[in-house]
Amino acid sequence: MPTPIIRIDNIVKRYGPLTVLDGLSMEVMPGEKLALIGPSGSGKTTILRILMTLESISGGHIEVDGEQLYHMPRGKDLVAADERHLHKMRERIGMVFQHFNLFPHKCVLDNVTLAPMLTKGIKRTDAERRAMELLEMVGMADKARSVPAQLSGGQKQRVAIARALALSPKIMLFDEITSALDPELVEEVLNVMRRLASETDMTMLLVTHEMGFAHDFADRVLFFDRGRIVEEGKPNDIFRNPTQERTQSFLRKIIAAGHRI
Ligand SMILES: Nc1ncnc2c1ncn2[C@@H]1O[C@H](COP(=O)(O)OP(=O)(O)O)[C@@H](O)[C@H]1O
Ligand SMILES: [Mg+2]
Repeated sequence: MPTPIIRIDNIVKRYGPLTVLDGLSMEVMPGEKLALIGPSGSGKTTILRILMTLESISGGHIEVDGEQLYHMPRGKDLVAADERHLHKMRERIGMVFQHFNLFPHKCVLDNVTLAPMLTKGIKRTDAERRAMELLEMVGMADKARSVPAQLSGGQKQRVAIARALALSPKIMLFDEITSALDPELVEEVLNVMRRLASETDMTMLLVTHEMGFAHDFADRVLFFDRGRIVEEGKPNDIFRNPTQERTQSFLRKIIAAGHRI
């Protein structure tokens, strides 16, 4: 049996009196494509942000690629991770957000090469060669010298995907990357994601309301509600034969809102 690349063990996350994640546990196998679905406020973004070390945790343990994320060994004990450990672990994970957060005054090529050059010390020529390959893959090579203001939302999001990939993370997190886009721009981004899922063996966790896409993309679907995983399984089982009442009612609402499954 291969070992999981992510082990989330009994994670608790509180904001003051509000418990957002309530003893969440899950494992992800290397190369697995996971879709996280569930109502707004159920904790999907929070778990991705915790994996990206953008949040702290209130309890529990997370192991990424064989090492603790928020803890580190000291002698026989596990102690809270210091900034250096977090920095090292962060390099294994990349994230694409709902809003693209591109550098507005830099061209597309610079947006993709900047982080590899600054954080990994990669030479400009090498960074640019890799960036052009990635821009080719997301269909944006011809816009390498454009600035973000000259691009559509879908094009910006495709650049944001290339930028995250340029750091060669082992794990990629995608948080509702099409929800801020005009409807006619959604498909071009989903097509890039389909290619990415089929052509790479990267581990991917994706939060989405596009159930049809989640069905095609995911090896496994996790249904979140109120900070817990209520149901999980293969896309066909979750979407065609959900067993839990909360999953059924969520999917009914999604269909009523005009989404395809
Ligand atoms: N910084 C924060 N401070 C207080 N509450 C927060 C914060 N971030 C998220 N929450 C709350 O945590 C819960 C889960 O949020 P989130 O993970 O964004 O849900 P989802 O992505 O599933 O919609 C929500 O109730 C939200 O209001
Ligand atoms: Mg969210």
